[in-house]
Amino acid sequence: MKLTTFCFSPTGTSRKNMMAVVKGLDMGDVTHCDYTYYNIESGKDLDRQLSSDDLALFSVPVYGGKVAPTALERMGQVRGEDTPAILLVTYGNRNFEQVLVQLADFVRERGFRPIAAAALVGEHSYSNAKYPIAVGRPDAEDLASAEELGRQIAAKLLQKDEQAWDIDVANDMPHPETPEASLQAFRLFVQEYTLQQQANPVKVFPAASSEACSHCGVCVGLCPTQAIALGNEEVTDASRCIRCCACVKGCPTGARTFDSPFAKPLSENFRMRREPLYLL
Ligand SMILES: Cc1cc2nc3c(=O)[nH]c(=O)nc-3n(C[C@H](O)[C@H](O)[C@H](O)COP(=O)(O)O)c2cc1C
Ligand code: SF4
Ligand code: SF4
Repeated sequence: MKLTTFCFSPTGTSRKNMMAVVKGLDMGDVTHCDYTYYNIESGKDLDRQLSSDDLALFSVPVYGGKVAPTALERMGQVRGEDTPAILLVTYGNRNFEQVLVQLADFVRERGFRPIAAAALVGEHSYSNAKYPIAVGRPDAEDLASAEELGRQIAAKLLQKDEQAWDIDVANDMPHPETPEASLQAFRLFVQEYTLQQQANPVKVFPAASSEACSHCGVCVGLCPTQAIALGNEEVTDASRCIRCCACVKGCPTGARTFDSPFAKPLSENFRMRREPLYLL
């Protein structure tokens, strides 16, 4: 079996988790299709056709309880032919809701059959020194666990009865538990924020302070949607920005920041350590 991975990972946590699973799978022949830095304008090389002898692995982050929309846009032309697929979602310690069901439907419509699924944890894109959220995840423990998952999937693929490989994500995927008080507090914040936005819609985007920006251009290279122009790095093109925070996390001078209103309530209500969850 040949393994092909499909990944979208602006701040790198979905990629880290995926590479640990790949290590555990220990398959000699691996092709990586990383769609993070894909130039939308070029319109090339998005299509891939896999056969039933291949194994596919999809690794994407959770954005607002859904698969990051840019990931789906870029992976939309990938096709399988009854190709077994591993589904990985990485989320920032809040929740992943029905994201694996959404991803399972997406890949099924394109000819894949889900055989393993996992919800893995990554440092939240909005995490910062003032409002930390799952800082440093995936950590060594997470990566060891993801590698073990890879080994278990490899063992499963040795089973002769291929019908037994299939999983039912909608019914069997486990979900994390959240204390009621945290859920209530976060829901209340979202309700108030939604009302406030209806009355006075203000969208915030990352930006850089002109005093601190050295014009090194690092953020331009890190931006997956070409929302920052070289020489004009203080400005963010709001029509392109997906608020992934790759520029914020990668800025060497700390000039780029994102003042997300969600950072505080997320940091306050989702301090508990979520463990990786699997369905095999
Ligand atoms: C726009 C946006 C929305 C997000 N929504 C969620 C969410 O609903 N639940 C959650 O737990 N984490 C959420 N996160 C956090 C990311 O899922 C998490 O940080 C993930 O590790 C990022 O993956 P990456 O490193 O591959 O970019 C969100 C992040 C962004 C940028
Ligand atoms: S990475 Fe930071 S310092 Fe470098 S150009 Fe971008 S905002 Fe400026
Ligand atoms: S400008 Fe927006 S899309 Fe580009 S890296 Fe920064 S947050 Fe992500």
